[in-house]
Amino acid sequence: MSPSKTHKAVATFGPRKPLQLIDVPTVKPPGKEVCIKVAWTASTPLDLHQADGGLLVNPPQVLGDGASGIVVEVGDAVERLKVGDEVFGFTWRSQQDKAHQEYITAPENLFGLIPKRMAAEAVVTVPNNLVCVCHTLTHDLHLLFPWPLPENYVPEEFEVPILIWGGSSSVGQYALQVLKYLGYKNLITTASPKHHQMLKDYGARITVDYNSVDVVDQILKLAGGKVKYAIDCIASREGSLEPISKILEAGSIVAVSLPVIIRDATDTVLPEYSMEPDKAVKWADGVEVVGTRTHFYLENKFFEEHLQAEIIPLLLASGDVVPNRQRIVNGETLLERAENALDLLRRKVPSGERLVWRVAEP
Ligand SMILES: NC(=O)c1ccc[n+]([C@@H]2O[C@H](COP(=O)([O-])OP(=O)(O)OC[C@H]3O[C@@H](n4cnc5c(N)ncnc54)[C@H](OP(=O)(O)O)[C@@H]3O)[C@@H](O)[C@H]2O)c1
Repeated sequence: MSPSKTHKAVATFGPRKPLQLIDVPTVKPPGKEVCIKVAWTASTPLDLHQADGGLLVNPPQVLGDGASGIVVEVGDAVERLKVGDEVFGFTWRSQQDKAHQEYITAPENLFGLIPKRMAAEAVVTVPNNLVCVCHTLTHDLHLLFPWPLPENYVPEEFEVPILIWGGSSSVGQYALQVLKYLGYKNLITTASPKHHQMLKDYGARITVDYNSVDVVDQILKLAGGKVKYAIDCIASREGSLEPISKILEAGSIVAVSLPVIIRDATDTVLPEYSMEPDKAVKWADGVEVVGTRTHFYLENKFFEEHLQAEIIPLLLASGDVVPNRQRIVNGETLLERAENALDLLRRKVPSGERLVWRVAEP
């Protein structure tokens, strides 16, 4: 099947302006690229940061960076994928590979085959934030990610306390599961109590309610030593950076999932962001503060080749990583589904789950 010459895409036209459907060219895949008919996508907080906050956008800009669907055309140098393959991937680099549109054209190494017996709407929750986690652990925290993982592998610092702030977020769920897979035993996380059992199953040794007034004291008491590594999956100045800054000490490293949210949007006020987590709060001397930028993960040549094409599908197929729970967002049209998802993000509805919606009809 050959895609039509143009197709529909969901675009932002500026902060808080209504999303619009636009017609964009359906790009014939050159060389090592493939064209995918997008079945499902997921909405993430980045969509909100971009649609309401205008963060890193040049309107009119197509949104979305996670898709699952079917390969409809391949470039002449494509070696692995073929027409008809069911795939999923994290794609973000240009309008033609953003996810909230009916067809995307992108390099084949940005897609993996959907493992047998897994649903396209489940795996679409995975690629962007699992890539984020692998990039955070290796690039920002300087931890090893041996692949294939040697049998009986035990990381040198397997007992070191590692704090995952916001374990029930999508990033947090994957961070816990990957750290458990790598062999780390002393994982401490914060989340609402209703998610604590799930996060223990994912590898957390200690779960603390982030709304407790003594959340910092609880973590300091229960960690069993200096928290050497932290991942801030929330990056809210008041809601996560401030408490984390009271826990870390000289020699600790924290990776902050940018942007730092200085102020959430209200009905009358625009959101405010910072890309400088080291300046957003006062850190103890000697704490290394790194802002995570997953968009640079392709600088790791091993990950460029293997992460989405091989590692992520295998982690799912083996059951070492399970997808986020999905909340299916309904709507009569593509635009309605996109707007309904954005509205749920605005109202902070997602809790331990990912918003997922249909793009092209089957
Ligand atoms: N820079 C990058 O490379 C990069 C990559 C990926 C994501 N991000 C950013 O990372 C952030 C998280 O993304 P996501 O998709 O994982 O979010 P998400 O799944 O939508 O996050 C929702 C969860 O956040 C939790 N939460 C809210 N406030 C909290 C707080 N103060 N402390 C602890 N948990 C809190 C809620 O927990 P409960 O339900 O338990 O209450 C809820 O489950 C976003 O701002 C996103 O843009 C950045």
